Amino acid sequence: MKEHHTKIALLKHLSDGEFHSGEALGDKIGISRAAISKHIKGIQEWGVDIYRVQGRGYQLAQQLELLDEDVIKGASDNSTISVIPVIDSTNQYLLDNVNNLESGSVCLAEYQSRGRGRRGRQWVSPFGSNLYLSMYWRLDAGMAAAMGLSLVVGVAVVEALEELGINGIKLKWPNDLYFNDKKLAGILVEMSGQAGGAANLVIGMGLNIAMESGTDNIDQPWTSLTQVSPDPLPSRNTLAKSLIEALRSSLIDYEQNGMNEFVPRWNRLDNFLGRQVRLIIGPREIEGEVLGIDEQGAVVLKTEQGIQSFIGGEISLRKND
Ligand code: ATP
Ligand code: BTN
Repeated sequence: MKEHHTKIALLKHLSDGEFHSGEALGDKIGISRAAISKHIKGIQEWGVDIYRVQGRGYQLAQQLELLDEDVIKGASDNSTISVIPVIDSTNQYLLDNVNNLESGSVCLAEYQSRGRGRRGRQWVSPFGSNLYLSMYWRLDAGMAAAMGLSLVVGVAVVEALEELGINGIKLKWPNDLYFNDKKLAGILVEMSGQAGGAANLVIGMGLNIAMESGTDNIDQPWTSLTQVSPDPLPSRNTLAKSLIEALRSSLIDYEQNGMNEFVPRWNRLDNFLGRQVRLIIGPREIEGEVLGIDEQGAVVLKTEQGIQSFIGGEISLRKND
C-alpha cells in the first residue's frame, strides 16, 4: 500500500470522531503500533490536528468529512470527477491529462503539496479543511475569451454560495473571493495549449472552509467560510457538488452569450466598487476609484487622467483607503 493510502485509511477510521487506540488501528489496517505512530505524525504534517491521550488513543481535534466522488457526482452526472486525496496540485494534474479528458472533467484533493496561486505563488492547502477543485474546460472561442471567463467563474462561485444561504462574499478583480476585506478563495486559470482555434484551460479554485492550522505562510489577511456564516455550513461534498454545477452552467452560458450579462452581476459583488485602489503593473502604480468592470473584463478606474481600463495577467489590485 502506498504511504499516503495508509494515512487515508487511518483518517477514515478516525473520521468518526471517537478515540481509537494505536493497537486497534494497527489491527484494522494490518500494521504495527509503531507504524501507526509514524503515520499519525505524517498526517499531522499535512495540517490535521490529532490528539493522543494516554490509555485512550488517538482522536481528531476537529470533525472531518472526507470528499466522496459518488456523493459529489450524484446519480445523473456521467462526467469525470476524480478525488485524489493527496496531490501536488489539482491544476497540474488536469494540465498533465488534458489529452485524455473531456471538457468539464474535475479533480479535487484533500491536500496539495504544491498548491499554487498566480505567478508561482504558493496556495496553502492543509488536509481536509478546505476545497481544492480544478476543472478542465475546452474554450472554443480561444485564448482571447479566457480573461472574461476567469471573471465569470468568480461570479458563478459567489452566486452559488448565496444560493446555499452564504451571504456577504465579494469579488476582488480579477479573481479572488473576499469577505470583510480578507481573502477567502482564489481562482487560477491556466492554459495547456491551443488545439485548432480552441484553448485548453484549467480553472482551479481554492476555497477556505474551516482552515485553522498550517497557515504560517499566508502573508496577507485571510478568512474561512466558517467566519462568513453564523449558520452551520453545508457539507464539503455538498459545496463541491454545487460549485461544480455552477461552474459548468456559467461557462456554457458565457460561451453562448458572452460577457454582457455578467458585467452587472460582477459589479454588484465587487468588493472595491466606489473605493480607492492602487493597481500594480510591473514597476508602475496607478491610483484611482473603481468604477467596475467592462465587457472585455478589464477593471475600470477613475484616475487623475480620466476614466481608464486595465486588463492583463500581470496586474495586481490593492486597496488604497
Ligand atoms: P494578486 O492580486 O496579484 O492576485 P495575491 O496576493 O492575491 O495577489 P495570488 O497569487 O492571487 O496573490 O494568491 C497567492 C497568495 O494568496 C499567496 O501569496 C498568499 O498571500 C495568499 N494565500 C495562500 N494560500 C492562501 C489560502 N489558503 N487562503 C488565503 N490566502 C492564501
Ligand atoms: C490565487 O489566488 O492566486 C489563486 C489560487 C488558486 C488555488 C487553487 S487550489 C486548486 C488549484 N490547484 C492549484 O494548485 N491552484 C488552484
